[in-house]
Amino acid sequence: MYTNILSLSYLIGSVSFILGLKMLSTPATARRGNLVSAAGMGIAILATLFLYQPAGTHFHNHGWIVGAMIIGAVIGSISARKVKMTAMPEMVSLFNGMGGLCAALISIVELGRIAQDHTDMHVLSILAGMVIGSVSFAGSMIAYGKLSGKIKDHTFVGQHIFNLVVLFVILVMGAFIIHGEGAAPVFIFCSILVLSIGYGILFVLPIGGADMPVVISLLNSFTGIATACAGFLYNNPVMLTGGILVGSAGAILTILMCKAMNRSLKNVLIGSFGETKTASGQTNGAQGTYKEISLSDAAMVMGYAHEVMIVPGYGLAVAQAQHTCHELEKVLRKNGVEVKYAIHPVAGRMPGHMNVLLAEADVSYDDLLELEPANEEFSSTDVVLILGANDVVNPAADNDPSSPIYGMPILEVGQAKMVIVNKRSMRPGYAGIENQLFFQPNTSMLFGDAKDVLHHLINQIKEL
Ligand code: TAP
Repeated sequence: MYTNILSLSYLIGSVSFILGLKMLSTPATARRGNLVSAAGMGIAILATLFLYQPAGTHFHNHGWIVGAMIIGAVIGSISARKVKMTAMPEMVSLFNGMGGLCAALISIVELGRIAQDHTDMHVLSILAGMVIGSVSFAGSMIAYGKLSGKIKDHTFVGQHIFNLVVLFVILVMGAFIIHGEGAAPVFIFCSILVLSIGYGILFVLPIGGADMPVVISLLNSFTGIATACAGFLYNNPVMLTGGILVGSAGAILTILMCKAMNRSLKNVLIGSFGETKTASGQTNGAQGTYKEISLSDAAMVMGYAHEVMIVPGYGLAVAQAQHTCHELEKVLRKNGVEVKYAIHPVAGRMPGHMNVLLAEADVSYDDLLELEPANEEFSSTDVVLILGANDVVNPAADNDPSSPIYGMPILEVGQAKMVIVNKRSMRPGYAGIENQLFFQPNTSMLFGDAKDVLHHLINQIKEL
């Protein structure tokens, strides 16, 4: 009886994960999708706590388990409420690292079972969970440190080869354990654990500039796979489904991001991806002259334009100006201007950052154009208003092979009749490189904090 209810609860949990994930695919249902999945997870946890009977016995240690859950829930909800939108990627990295650590700890705890009755598949799941979980934990911690500016990029000559050798040694040791007879030597497990942590650190340390998003989604996928291994080990369907969904969603996102940035997945895996380049790619010399536009002139050209395309970037999130931006859109529409948004897949600091930001301000999803349709539309656009974006509109990605962002598809805003760039200074963006767009004849700079500038623009357009 208990077992049937438990199985039903796991089925409800698994179905809710799939439904939740489906709902996360559009902003209109994303919030509900999150709640549906969380409810499913809650049911699965409660069912495990009260109905799971390993070998006919009951779970004990409820006090410890519930206590740990309360502490985790309090820390998680306070930090999720307090975190600034711009610090989200750091938090995602940190939480993802905790998932990886849990999966690795499960494998370590289950090591004892290997000496007893075991199959090769069980040993393989324990090893895979430990290796992948530890890589994900160590890599996520380094990613957290780098995103929050606490850790700098580090690399050494021959690091790619070294990384490959470390991976190879881990695989050989793993194969030795799986094919070895009797109890596996503890020191080999410990060596695999240490090497996996080392690999996680080494593979993320050199990654710099604009390439962290791909690594974060890859690590996310690793955590999912490590969890799926634990699900297999415990024959727990809900853990298996959750792990597979996270693993495959993370892998798909990684491939999409690689495509969006024109990078190769192979290089990501051996840690040679997007290393910070030396000065050759960084054009720090004089770039010519840029021109500025006044607020009143900017208001005038936008207020009388036929079509305005807004390009949001990280600076819009920093300024928390998404609501003011939507206000500008409404004022322009009142003046008969057609307004659209061009969204670059890696604008901001996390996947879908701009979509989330604009959805928060109730901007209609129908007005958001993805990279390719936006690029087709720029040549017929009168004014492009860039709000705190930089790398994602940098033509060096197209025409400077020495640039660290060379090959990344960009929003080709230069094709529009006029480009207005709002930022606070001539400082570079995330990749640390200068932007030739700012010096092109059809570009004008509108300096200032995005929120202040937008407020002034709204007031001036209202007076036209
Ligand atoms: P960035 O290239 O980082 O440029 C943002 C610009 O916003 C800066 O040049 C900054 O110039 C300006 N800014 C900052 N605060 C502002 C404010 N209050 N008001 C107005 N402007 C402000 O941004 P992007 O174009 O969105 O590109 C994103 C970059 O981050 C890419 O290189 C991407 O690869 C990387 N990245 C992306 C992700 C994901 S998943 N999206 C994750 C990690 C890294 P001033 O200082 O002069 O104002």
